Amino acid sequence: MAVYIVLLGPPGAGKGTQAEKISSVYHLTHVSTGDLFRENIRENTELGKKAREYTDNGLLVPDEVTIAMVEDRLKKEDCKNGALLDGFPRTIKQAEVLDEMLKNSFDAKVNIVPCIEVNQEDLIQRISGRRMCKNGHVFHIVTKPSKVEGICDECGEPLYQRADDNSETVKTRLNAYNETTAKLVGYYGAKGVLKTIDGNKSISEVSDAILAAIDEAI
Ligand code: AP5
Ligand code: MG
Repeated sequence: MAVYIVLLGPPGAGKGTQAEKISSVYHLTHVSTGDLFRENIRENTELGKKAREYTDNGLLVPDEVTIAMVEDRLKKEDCKNGALLDGFPRTIKQAEVLDEMLKNSFDAKVNIVPCIEVNQEDLIQRISGRRMCKNGHVFHIVTKPSKVEGICDECGEPLYQRADDNSETVKTRLNAYNETTAKLVGYYGAKGVLKTIDGNKSISEVSDAILAAIDEAI
């Protein structure tokens, strides 16, 4: 049976960082809607043109655009054993459509939703020091520096600072999380699949807590 894990948590909580570890342990494809939008923006596709005005301003991309992109992605061969979803769903509508899609197309469901919680001041520190490569590998100038400055340890690509990692846009992103996405805590809590994770600890301590929660659930 395919396994679907949804990583929930505010901007900068460590979803992408933890996804690297979880996807390698469980051999699950990491599907990050943020990474997919950034790839489309870099390649200047029609989807990228639609998404850019929202992502650059820290606003949620409309549901119909986001849902269609995820539906296409989950049908690909590398998701046949399931997926690790990072940054999707972010609205109740997206969560409902995901449940229907998994049931109707794959006879599956969301198995577990680790929700990484981090203090707001730390989120801002994490985001302001983040550097990443075009393949989605994540570093931090203080807590997780790359071995060679400006170069990804994993793939050798240059590291860059995201266009939406500035203090103004971060405030909008945190608002979008608190006002809209945080409702998913109740949605998944009611289904009995939510697992709250203390994200204020080191990267490896957070990984251990998430892996233990997944092991218990699947
Ligand atoms: P997205 O790319 O998903 O951004 P986000 O949700 O704001 O989350 P981040 O990627 O900023 O944080 P993260 O939790 O992955 O943290 P990370 O591991 O990098 O989305 C971008 C935009 O796309 C959205 O604003 C929206 O416009 C659009 N979008 C995406 N999905 C959408 C959807 N479903 N619907 C509508 N619109 C959508 O870690 C952060 C930093 O902290 C790193 O430097 C890392 O090294 C460091 N760090 C991580 N863990 C620790 C730790 N434990 N201790 C110390 N440092 C740590
Ligand atoms: Mg991320």
